[in-house]
Amino acid sequence: VKEFGDPSVLKVAKIAIPKPKAGQVLVKTLAAGVNPVDTYIRAGKYARLPTLPYTPGAEACGVIHEIGPDVKDLKVGDKVWQKGSITGTCAQYNVCTAQDAIKLHDKITSTAGAGISIAYRTAYRALMQTGQARPGCNVFVHGASGGVGLAAVQIARAYGMRVIGTASTEKGRNLIQKNGCHVALDHSQTDRKAYLEQLVKATDGKGADVIIEMLANKNLNFDMGAVARRGKIVVVGNRGEIDNVNCRMLMMREASVVGCMIAGSTEEEEAEAISAISGGLASGALSPVVGETFPLEDAPAAHVEVIEHKHGSAGKIVLCPFSGEAE
Ligand SMILES: NC(=O)c1ccc[n+]([C@@H]2O[C@H](COP(=O)([O-])OP(=O)(O)OC[C@H]3O[C@@H](n4cnc5c(N)ncnc54)[C@H](OP(=O)(O)O)[C@@H]3O)[C@@H](O)[C@H]2O)c1
Repeated sequence: VKEFGDPSVLKVAKIAIPKPKAGQVLVKTLAAGVNPVDTYIRAGKYARLPTLPYTPGAEACGVIHEIGPDVKDLKVGDKVWQKGSITGTCAQYNVCTAQDAIKLHDKITSTAGAGISIAYRTAYRALMQTGQARPGCNVFVHGASGGVGLAAVQIARAYGMRVIGTASTEKGRNLIQKNGCHVALDHSQTDRKAYLEQLVKATDGKGADVIIEMLANKNLNFDMGAVARRGKIVVVGNRGEIDNVNCRMLMMREASVVGCMIAGSTEEEEAEAISAISGGLASGALSPVVGETFPLEDAPAAHVEVIEHKHGSAGKIVLCPFSGEAE
């Protein structure tokens, strides 16, 4: 990306393969996850922007190609998932710190491995750390068919929670049920009263103890009517401002609205999340869902899809820099 702007500013360019320094590794990128935040940054509409030119992407799956000095626990040929990148993951090769490259469990494919980091770390943080959800509680994942939503559904189900999720399409609702939702609702329905009744019924009249909210600017008022007594509405996603918020329901229920940022984790919280995710991936309780894959040249189309989801979300959007090499 040489200038901030619409998806057409994403251009494939030949540049030198970067060299890993001390404590760093060079990864051959088999698949890179595409996230909504990549589009906010590309458009130049994000609080922290990279220096131009830059290569997008902060998560991936690949094979260690070269090791910098002072790297101990990784070797050339190890397959890893990445939770960060110094040079950007939407490229055939990228450099990251050794701590950001985590060995991938054998049974996870490269395309699935590319979508672990942001979705599962955010979902774990929102549900377990910010939301303090506990086994047996009612969790409402408002926007369950995308990357973070499906991860939240799988984690909540693995911890023995009752999970209600939403998607705007039948395909999405089938997918979220397959991934652990006890009840799947449609967030696109216009009759909000009927929608609320469905949610209340799904929680045996109690409301949701924890709501994981993907679009707070649209749903905050609804969530205040759907939250249980002393429940929490955890804001993960927001794309605009809200008029006419009535906090009365919040007050009556002594409920709270709390924001959640993946970057807000302490080192201890981050380590806890990685342990939980690694355990879940190894046991099979967690299994990343790939929605659509694109070759690197089609990065502009991938950026359009991750925002528009014209046919509804169905998991992660992934870019594959080497055609035919990512399974
Ligand atoms: N706070 C953080 O640290 C953090 C980290 C990662 C992501 N995020 C944000 O969290 C949001 C979700 O990320 P993602 O990666 O899961 O995105 P995604 O894969 O694009 O998924 C978006 C989800 O939102 C749903 N949605 C669309 N309209 C909705 C509505 N009116 N009400 C409820 N849900 C609706 C979509 O469902 P349908 O397509 O079926 O309509 C889909 O399930 C994004 O805004 C992203 O920027 C925040």
